[in-house]
Amino acid sequence: MTPVPSQYQRVLSGMRATGKLHLGHYHGVLKNWITLQHEYECYFFVADWHALTTHYEDPSIISESVWEMVIDWLAAGVNPGAAKLFIQSRVPEHAELHLLLSMITPLGWLERVPTYKDQQEKLKEKDLATYGFLGYPLLQSADILIYRAGLVPVGEDQVVHVELTREVARRFNHLYGREPDFAEKAQNAAKKMGRKTAKLYFELRKRYQEQGDVEALETGRALLESQHNISIGDRERLFGFLEGGGKIILPEPQVLLTQSSRVPGLDGQKMSKSYGNIIGLREPEESVSQKLKTMPTDPARVRLNDPGNPEKCPVWDFHQLYSSDSLKDWVQDGCQNAKIGCLECKQHVIDAVIKEQRPIIERAAEYTEDPKTVRNIINEGCEAARNVARETLDEVRQVMGLSYR
Ligand code: TRP
Ligand code: SF4
Repeated sequence: MTPVPSQYQRVLSGMRATGKLHLGHYHGVLKNWITLQHEYECYFFVADWHALTTHYEDPSIISESVWEMVIDWLAAGVNPGAAKLFIQSRVPEHAELHLLLSMITPLGWLERVPTYKDQQEKLKEKDLATYGFLGYPLLQSADILIYRAGLVPVGEDQVVHVELTREVARRFNHLYGREPDFAEKAQNAAKKMGRKTAKLYFELRKRYQEQGDVEALETGRALLESQHNISIGDRERLFGFLEGGGKIILPEPQVLLTQSSRVPGLDGQKMSKSYGNIIGLREPEESVSQKLKTMPTDPARVRLNDPGNPEKCPVWDFHQLYSSDSLKDWVQDGCQNAKIGCLECKQHVIDAVIKEQRPIIERAAEYTEDPKTVRNIINEGCEAARNVARETLDEVRQVMGLSYR
């Protein structure tokens, strides 16, 4: 019996391949991934199929972005020794699970996902009245469930997709988690943990089911998570038996909300390609400098001796992200009392951005010169991902009655 890594410790996240990354991705997503990779078993992937749902008419941007994106990740510090990095379409198991989940997903669930209508409104120039686009969040559910990931780090806008994933998983477990001799199998599974542990497990289960003691449920889950000598099937039974349902084949994932260190764009809005206010992750120094020098400031500061207010200035947002407290005090005082010029104020931001980017640009250049290494990293990641994905899919096929022998 192979030890089972705890699914609740598994982290999965994806990024659409629709262009080069910018500082918003770096501060908003990548820095978070870099922290997570040391704490959990992480799977990070390029969501090329998701990109295709909106870019099917001209997919060239996708193939151009895929490798650049992987290089961006690596250069930023995502470590292939710690996290598995792969490309969605290279793990076709996602597609099969998507198809199978589509059988049990009511149409209304997808039509009611707010991003469906929102994005259609926002991207009016594109025809998104397609089957694929309606299925976008369900494909995302398949991405998550195929790894039985417990945690999904995403921003606010993606929370509804994880919510849908939870509903789909619940429905799946409800439909297929029933075995004729479930209770007996669960009892036997419990014994395999040893007499003492089994006794504790039953006690916790009783406390939860008879008294609604949620703490007991949590403790019970933690107890199961720490068991490394039971099979996946037994683990699922025990999780399900603890809660009073059937087998939990596809566990419900949780959102790991990325605290959006709000990354400002050059115009004070959130940094986003669609607003045209970005600084690229690997933008050349001169261009960074040029963009920041020409960005707007507090309009009250027409002349050097006009006092201003940093709260009304998008440059201040950058200071919040990059500057020390003493430098921020200097900005506040200098701006409000007209002691400093805006260019002088901006120069500190320019220096900080360039300093942050320099090692990233250097590392990216190394990977660019060595495409083979990048290919190998992805090949290995795809293989590791497929191994996990296949295992889930085998079981899904089996409970859905599709494993003919
Ligand atoms: N839809 C996500 C986004 O636009 C990308 C994504 C695809 C994803 N599959 C995922 C994120 C699975 C988390 C988990 O950002
Ligand atoms: Fe903005 Fe700095 Fe100029 Fe004040 S001094 S308006 S904070 S750029």
